[in-house]
Amino acid sequence: MKPNLKTLVSVVSLAVVSVINVTATTGDYIRPAPRKNLQFPWSPKHSSHPQQVHISLAGDKHMRVTWITDDKSAPSVVNYGMSPGKYNSVAQGESTSYSYLLYSSGKIHHTVIGPLEDDTIYYYQCGREGPEFKFKTPPSQFPITLAVAGDLGQTGWTKSTLDHIDQCIYDVYMLPGDLSYADYIQSRWDTFGELVQPLASARPWMVTQGNHEKEHILLIKKSFAAYNARWKMPYEESGSSSNLYYSFDVAGAHIIMLGSYTDYDEFSDQYSWLKADLAKVDREKTPWLLALFHVPWYNSNDAHQGEGDNMMASMEPLLNAAGVDIVLAGHVHAYERSQRVYNGRSDSCGAVHITIGDGGNREGLAHRFKDQQPEWSVFREASFGHGELKIVNSTHAFWSWHRNDDDEPVRSDEVWITTLRSSGCILEESRDLRKLLLQP
Ligand SMILES: [Fe+2]
Repeated sequence: MKPNLKTLVSVVSLAVVSVINVTATTGDYIRPAPRKNLQFPWSPKHSSHPQQVHISLAGDKHMRVTWITDDKSAPSVVNYGMSPGKYNSVAQGESTSYSYLLYSSGKIHHTVIGPLEDDTIYYYQCGREGPEFKFKTPPSQFPITLAVAGDLGQTGWTKSTLDHIDQCIYDVYMLPGDLSYADYIQSRWDTFGELVQPLASARPWMVTQGNHEKEHILLIKKSFAAYNARWKMPYEESGSSSNLYYSFDVAGAHIIMLGSYTDYDEFSDQYSWLKADLAKVDREKTPWLLALFHVPWYNSNDAHQGEGDNMMASMEPLLNAAGVDIVLAGHVHAYERSQRVYNGRSDSCGAVHITIGDGGNREGLAHRFKDQQPEWSVFREASFGHGELKIVNSTHAFWSWHRNDDDEPVRSDEVWITTLRSSGCILEESRDLRKLLLQP
């Protein structure tokens, strides 16, 4: 559908003001109602047929392939190669499964393959069964494009978001929490896995968890059972003891995935791991430093006000000391971008915070923002959509947010972001403080 006049005016005016962070803007586009959950007709498959295939980065030059079979004796083997149907490499992996009340999962296979060439298409087959899949590895050098959307769910709007991400040229997808909205009904994890397979089997999906992944039942079920079994991320590869927080390098970016729903105070394992991880960052090798987690620290929406305050109080000094350039969060079902901020206010040596919990879930949008837009808030709008971060080189990146405008992706907010390092923010005189904060 064609954008209406109001939308065109809005897009043009926003493009003008958003090139540099100088003007506070609130988008006035009002989304239609939430869309219903998608229907997934029952389509029986052979018990060893690979289902819900997705891939994730697993350390330098390696990829983890994850899939599920009903057959508990199916092998956790991936055959792969650079030509269709010609698999000259094979890797053996591991498997797990879980039960949840009356539900029993299939066999969940995790197989790490590699070493792989950079920026290269690979063809692969899971468990020597079913169709051939293919993926492209990320480049080792800039430019690189990261697609981002949180709070996905599995509604008509989710489909719209995924279609738009599929249309853009990107290397890695990053999801800052709230994946399937299974919410205790485990079969929804399976339908979500099938829904995302076309994208998630072709590009690495790097996710962190939200509140909808908890699925905790007092005295019966620990938190994150399904999430941890199904979406294993490279925590071991990054020196973490928990799948709930980890980091990875891609091209020249070091990306930290934190857990909003596991301990984060200064005595916690996550805090210790974060300090150690930040202390190891080599800005010559990875001039860009990003962090993702679920609950935003800078949020002027009425929804979820203050929920990130404790984590922010604990961890923002660490991220700031390390010079984190961009922070991406979800949870609030709307879009908001900040100026560079630190300690609650604009700070030219703080991080740009972006809330992008607008993937399309069934709970709908968080329409109400605080009447008074804070001075740090540059752009805010309650619409579904996705973001794209194109890191052009070691100093400049182009961020754009794409609203799902009646099924057409419309670029509605955009800004050039420079690294703190190139902005003179990581200075000699602050070195002692950084050392103190980041010492292992
Ligand atoms: Fe959430």
